[in-house]
Amino acid sequence: MTNTSPLPSVPYGSLIFAPMEGITDEAFRKTILKLYPEWDYLATDFLRVPSAGRYPLKHITRHFGAELSEFDWVKNKTMFQILTSHRAFTIQMVTDLVSLGYPWLDINLGCPSNTVTKNGGGSSLLLDLNTLRSLIKNIREHFTGRLTAKIRTGFHNTLEFEDSIRLLNDEGVEMITVHGRTRDMMYKVPAEWSYIEKAVKISKVPIVGNGDVWGLNDIDRMLKETGCHAVMIARGALKAPWIAQDYKSGNFQESARERFDKIQTFFSEYKMQLEKENISDRGLLKQSKSVSRYMLDGIENSELIRRKLLLSQTASDFYSIIENL
Ligand SMILES: Cc1cc2nc3c(=O)[nH]c(=O)nc-3n(C[C@H](O)[C@H](O)[C@H](O)COP(=O)(O)O)c2cc1C
Repeated sequence: MTNTSPLPSVPYGSLIFAPMEGITDEAFRKTILKLYPEWDYLATDFLRVPSAGRYPLKHITRHFGAELSEFDWVKNKTMFQILTSHRAFTIQMVTDLVSLGYPWLDINLGCPSNTVTKNGGGSSLLLDLNTLRSLIKNIREHFTGRLTAKIRTGFHNTLEFEDSIRLLNDEGVEMITVHGRTRDMMYKVPAEWSYIEKAVKISKVPIVGNGDVWGLNDIDRMLKETGCHAVMIARGALKAPWIAQDYKSGNFQESARERFDKIQTFFSEYKMQLEKENISDRGLLKQSKSVSRYMLDGIENSELIRRKLLLSQTASDFYSIIENL
């Protein structure tokens, strides 16, 4: 079963909000969808495929977001990412996703964490391309929607990078996001965009460039220098969740005051979304701190504010700092 996706193809130059564990949950994605509809696509963080048994369907729906799952336009715009290994019950999960009507499945082939890789998941799937091939083939046979994958350039090294791109092409993956680092690089070195360019040259399916897009100029640079089809942004989109809006409106200049206003608007919506879920005060504080991690980057003299935010003991302390920016 190849390329059976009922979804229209992803337009050139699309901007994709990257999957981020612990960040891109339902409340966060609702905030993004409401305030910044300029993002062309979003992603769930990964849902780990169980290595025994099966999740209740409700658990899968909750991962995407029970409310968001009611809207086809949201489902069509959001990649549902899974993290699996050759030992996990992948086909059961894929069948469940099909039965729940999620049209876009993304396979995580990049997660570097030790807990994940020692169980044969995430980036460690790049260590054994034969096993990877049979896993992807099997998924393709059971998934009728748009199948995509997100990879690093290798595990220890990049020797099999091109083979991994060819393999994904051969087995019916319809778009590939390349994060230009090996697993061993973690985040220690700058992302190597030359591998994105390499992938573009050999892939018949669109390549999405990812890694170290921090500002508006980086988006154009990524498209031009690598020839990629679309751009995925993770930490740069945490720094400025409005980056797609600024890019599309051509707003390349902003004062610190404008940035503070945007931060306030973001957090006022985000807090409301979290409160709708009846989150505890501790939960609200924890989530808000995680999401604020990069938001003050680049603003002059903001170090003290950042420190105060991170040292807040209660959500109301945190939010009074935000309101007084
Ligand atoms: C907090 C955090 C959580 C992440 N979680 C995921 C994830 O669930 N799935 C995934 O494919 N990548 C995940 N990533 C990797 C990013 O999607 C992205 O590939 C990487 O950060 C490089 O892009 P950037 O330079 O734009 O941040 C995560 C990154 C961060 C910082």
